[in-house]
Amino acid sequence: MNLFEANNISKRFGGVVALIDAEFGFSGCKICGLVGANGSGKTTFARICAGLINKDSGNFYIDGETKDINSPFDAEKLGIALAHQNLSLIPDLTVWENICLGHELRKGKIFPGNKNSMDLSIEILNDLVPGEISINSKISTLNPAQKQIVEIAKALYRKPKLLILDESTAALEYFHVEKLFEKIKQLKEDGMSIIFISHRLWEIIKICDLLYVFRNGKTVGKIDFEKEPRDENLIVPLITGGDFCGINYIKKEKKNLIEKNVIIRFDEVSYRNKLNKVSFEIKKGEIVGIGGLHGQGQEELIMALSGAVPVESGKYYFEGKEFRSRHTLNAIRKGIYLVPGDRQKDGLFNNHSILRNIIYPRFTLKKERLFLKLKNLYKITGDIIKKISINPPESEMTVKNLSGGNQQKVVFGRWLQFQPKVILLNDPTKGVDIETKDSLYRIVNELSLKGTTVILYSSSNEEIICNCDRVFIMFEGKIVEEIEHEDICEDKLIKSSLRVGEKG
Ligand SMILES: Nc1ncnc2c1ncn2[C@@H]1O[C@H](COP(=O)(O)OP(=O)(O)OP(=O)(O)O)[C@@H](O)[C@H]1O
Ligand SMILES: [Mg+2]
Repeated sequence: MNLFEANNISKRFGGVVALIDAEFGFSGCKICGLVGANGSGKTTFARICAGLINKDSGNFYIDGETKDINSPFDAEKLGIALAHQNLSLIPDLTVWENICLGHELRKGKIFPGNKNSMDLSIEILNDLVPGEISINSKISTLNPAQKQIVEIAKALYRKPKLLILDESTAALEYFHVEKLFEKIKQLKEDGMSIIFISHRLWEIIKICDLLYVFRNGKTVGKIDFEKEPRDENLIVPLITGGDFCGINYIKKEKKNLIEKNVIIRFDEVSYRNKLNKVSFEIKKGEIVGIGGLHGQGQEELIMALSGAVPVESGKYYFEGKEFRSRHTLNAIRKGIYLVPGDRQKDGLFNNHSILRNIIYPRFTLKKERLFLKLKNLYKITGDIIKKISINPPESEMTVKNLSGGNQQKVVFGRWLQFQPKVILLNDPTKGVDIETKDSLYRIVNELSLKGTTVILYSSSNEEIICNCDRVFIMFEGKIVEEIEHEDICEDKLIKSSLRVGEKG
């Protein structure tokens, strides 16, 4: 695409103003970044460009002409494809069926050319993650990062002229992000333009040619990296519009943990072929990171800790007693709370309000079930909304209408009404803006100082380095190394994950 201009784009949802006279544009094949706090209008803008929702006013000027985008069909004719933040995949279809859905290749004019569609799907996927995802797997069996990669492949299959990536890297680890960047640079060379939406500023700085910043639905800044420095300090004030100057990535001090206060003990725990005789002890107030390459059993370890899957062999001890469970509700009753990695699948009742999403766990607590007073529930919800700045701050707002980052805040925030003994965080800041990320980790650290044990899996090494007292490195379902506080650094995490120095 040679010229793309979006002028004065406005959009309201009832009383909520999502975009107000937003401006966006570039000329030539560019990788054009878009950043802004949670709820600033990025996804709304992306969905308008893809014809999924209609703008209230404004116009598009594309390759020298004013164009209407009133439907996905219009967008497709213009060569615009969107990799969705909330994924557009059908769980019961296979990877390749999802990738080519609605664009199946034909043999002759009538017969389905499944083989051709599959071949093309393999080619696109292998370009992104060689050999990692089988095209015959069902989407429901994939982890969040794999689903995200399929979502990107689906957009690429449409051979767009303008590809919009809406937080496509939020669930991806460094290695996959690097691979994706190589691919999009090559696509740019081949004549594609890319709109790249992300909260990770290092990504923006690394890959984008220019950048737009939205705040409260308005364009508040444009930075042309060909002329201006690639400097986070110039971007952060535009995003926040306030005093917040960015996260201080400083390692938290070493805690004095009392040896005898072991809260969790795993004794040779196995689960399917994903956890293989895993043993460890974790203390009260400790923040333990789970590292290693993707898919080495981290997800299953968190699920086992959360009581969602049964321990098949070995023993799980909680506060000195054996804990057996098949459902997270047993864990909730014990004070073990999970922030799941896939908020859409495991974390939210999308059609229900913020209030309901926050108070539902209370129904699992036997003693409270009969005595829930509506007034108290509004108070609890209101306090959480305030504490982690859920926007809009309305208890009755339906969760599916919240922006992605605000949905994530609901998933995390619901546990703040209790005094967690253990909190299991599976990539908790996915899609959360930098200011909120800072306050979420502040809360996590406050909790740990009061005695809450935290187990953290994150796709960002920085979050592990800055917050953890100890890190377990996982490989093929085993904990192969433990890194103590003073040794936790990027280099060590990467080398240990790759098993550098290990034989065989
Ligand atoms: N269908 C809808 N109904 C009501 N409000 C909506 C709807 N879709 C979006 N909004 C609101 O529009 C605003 C902008 O949301 P949007 O999803 O565009 O934000 P975003 O910049 O993508 O945020 P995030 O970084 O969290 O993904 C938010 O206040 C959101 O609650
Ligand atoms: Mg969004």
